[in-house]
Amino acid sequence: VLATTAELEAAAASGAFVQEVTSVQHYTDRLFKFRTTRPASFRFRSGEFVMIGLLIDGKPLYRAYSIASPSWDEELEFFSIKVPDGPLTSKLQLIQPGNAILMKKKPTGTLVNDALLPGKRVYMFSTGTGIAPFASLIRDPETYEKFDQVILTHTCREVAELKYGEELVEATRNDPLIGEYARDKLVHYTSVTREPFVRTGRITDLISSGKLFADLGVPPLDPAVDRGMICGSMDMLKDTKTLLEQAGLTEGANNKPGEFVVERAFVG
Ligand code: A2P
Repeated sequence: VLATTAELEAAAASGAFVQEVTSVQHYTDRLFKFRTTRPASFRFRSGEFVMIGLLIDGKPLYRAYSIASPSWDEELEFFSIKVPDGPLTSKLQLIQPGNAILMKKKPTGTLVNDALLPGKRVYMFSTGTGIAPFASLIRDPETYEKFDQVILTHTCREVAELKYGEELVEATRNDPLIGEYARDKLVHYTSVTREPFVRTGRITDLISSGKLFADLGVPPLDPAVDRGMICGSMDMLKDTKTLLEQAGLTEGANNKPGEFVVERAFVG
């Protein structure tokens, strides 16, 4: 890894790994993906997040990032927003293959299969970079063992912002390890809110109007068989959670599995 002495010292002082960026792909002026090497000792559950950082003015600055790669992948993948004056992302968006990043050693999070009761269908509701934890979960064989149908919804402002998810689902369906399950069970449902598209509107409106269920050809949400995972902005989480609760689903946690789980898509 091409880390500087300062980076190595910062990592050691804050209990972090130094990892090397292996690839970077920019989707729009607001979104990009990057991949890094993975420490041999680093284990995580699909859907968890980890703290990623850079040395900024000599000090390490960390933000939470969902791990987008599956737990069997030898690299790590992250999907990030770019905030022009964001303390971390204004710098992180400039990284290139060969650069070093800092990564704290302990992953955590609630968007994990363990926090959900078994069911028939799992809905993964995402907006913007909130798709990242689901990018990991839809590539985990356990998700397909646990559910008959895996419905990934992704809503963005613009059509170009859906591209990461489209490439991801296509690659997942063609994957030698899990393609067979994904082709059978994975449904990708996209919508856009700020320009014309085949489907428009916020996911909350598509749930409330019943259009989501009509389009999918499934019955409305039922706590006996349906499970939910939600990842997006604070407002999106709150509004989607309210709709799931109105349908009778109750929130779960690692120590008490339930019918849905929630995690904020981190920004900064
Ligand atoms: P909208 O364009 O109507 O604001 P962002 O990039 O700001 O996080 O937004 C990602 C997507 O989430 C956008 O399509 C946005 O719709 C949608 N969104 C924003 N707030 C909510 C909310 N409270 N409930 C559902 N969707 C939301």
